[in-house]
Amino acid sequence: MTPESAAAARSPLAGRLILLAVTGSIAAYKAAELARLLVAAGAEVQPLMTASATHFLGPLTLEALTRRRVLLDPLELLPDRRIAHIVAADTADAILVAPATARWMGAMANGLADDVVTATCLASAAPVVVAPAMDGEMWSHPATQGNAIKLRDFGYRVVEPESGPLASGAVGQGRLADAVRLLSALEEVLAGRPIREPDPARRPPLDPTPRSQDLEGRRIIVTAGGTSEPIDPVRSITNRSSGKMGIAIAEAALGRGARVTLIHGVVSVPLPAGAEAIAAETAERLRVALRKALPGADALLMAAAVADFRVKQPAERKLPREGELILELEPTPDILREAVERGAGMPGRRPVFVGFAAETGSLLRARAKAARKGVDLLVANDVSEAGSGFGSDTNRVTLFAPGMPAVALPRLPKREVAERLLDRVVELLEERDARPLSAEAVS
Ligand code: PMT
Repeated sequence: MTPESAAAARSPLAGRLILLAVTGSIAAYKAAELARLLVAAGAEVQPLMTASATHFLGPLTLEALTRRRVLLDPLELLPDRRIAHIVAADTADAILVAPATARWMGAMANGLADDVVTATCLASAAPVVVAPAMDGEMWSHPATQGNAIKLRDFGYRVVEPESGPLASGAVGQGRLADAVRLLSALEEVLAGRPIREPDPARRPPLDPTPRSQDLEGRRIIVTAGGTSEPIDPVRSITNRSSGKMGIAIAEAALGRGARVTLIHGVVSVPLPAGAEAIAAETAERLRVALRKALPGADALLMAAAVADFRVKQPAERKLPREGELILELEPTPDILREAVERGAGMPGRRPVFVGFAAETGSLLRARAKAARKGVDLLVANDVSEAGSGFGSDTNRVTLFAPGMPAVALPRLPKREVAERLLDRVVELLEERDARPLSAEAVS
């Protein structure tokens, strides 16, 4: 036994399941240190985050520290289809809400279960420690103080924020309490209580494979950005894609050990170091680059916004500004569909194909699009929704797979969307590799 593990075994937190619930305050970054200290004390930690918390701290950080998938939405299911936050609520020894925002305290005080943290607290009989962090005026406001009283009436332990410099530059009472105080508050609320659910099979599961390793040895092609179809040497037809979604996928795949070929059109963010980057500004160039890259690839994720139409005959010289201009457009080839068809005919294992669908207002057409393209997974986003689709740092996507019900993910940072997509790609690759090659050839 190492000195650390001996100390952990003596801690009152050892063997306990602690839910570390993070809400959207700038102090969210301190939750990473709390997770580390809880794990060092021998606790099992299940992280939960509200959507706004993910703006301040990447879920991946908490996942890497706790080896558990962050719960982000009350509708999430575990792989065995149990409702994730109910399993967490029923098996937790204690819940630590740190940092707790004024908004979250208000929602909780009134029982409004509109995020995964309030829903879990409402559903749990475990003791709850609340660590507020906010601006000093917000903390002293009668509304917040009234909510703190209500939470105390529920039996929750509210650990008052500390005084000092705040994120606004002002000095006041609003800083998240020191980690040592929060851990001692947890120990106090747990004192004399037996471990609630010692059977690990009944607790939320640990991630079997750390994400960082699971694409090692795989070759992944990602397309990103918008195409730009020339009208004449100075003008083109393009779209609003920034490349953020595809580049987030490329970065996530590189982080998980894959070899990545990134075929990109027009992008407005830096390309990741470590990927083989191929510039392909038009649909035709993208098509040619993909044909070359596809043999031997394990997966294609087609996040690029490819033009559906191009000018039939682009002018060789700049068109003069004279009266009306009528452009004759022709449809571009369906590159993804073509790749799926080529993949089926290639020797060896067929790559996993992931398409995207940019829809406006409704995702009703997405399932038919998935069938038409022949993909294993279609990622549909409503590009007319704020915080989704073109240019934003977040995206809200729904996943369509043949024969499976649609899976709607909450709005997440694009990097986290990328990780979730790659989780699915890893599963699809494992399923593919488990089939005998002969079955592959006829499927
Ligand atoms: O780049 P960002 O600013 O981060 O924005 C991300 C995004 C909105 C571009 C991305 O999430 C997205 O939705 N990408 C797909 C855009 C698109 O072209 O959707 P579509 O529904 O028109 O096409 C469906 C699929 O067929 C896509 O995978 C597309 O790459 C592919 N396609 C489209 C046309 C064509 N001629 N050939 C194709 O292969």
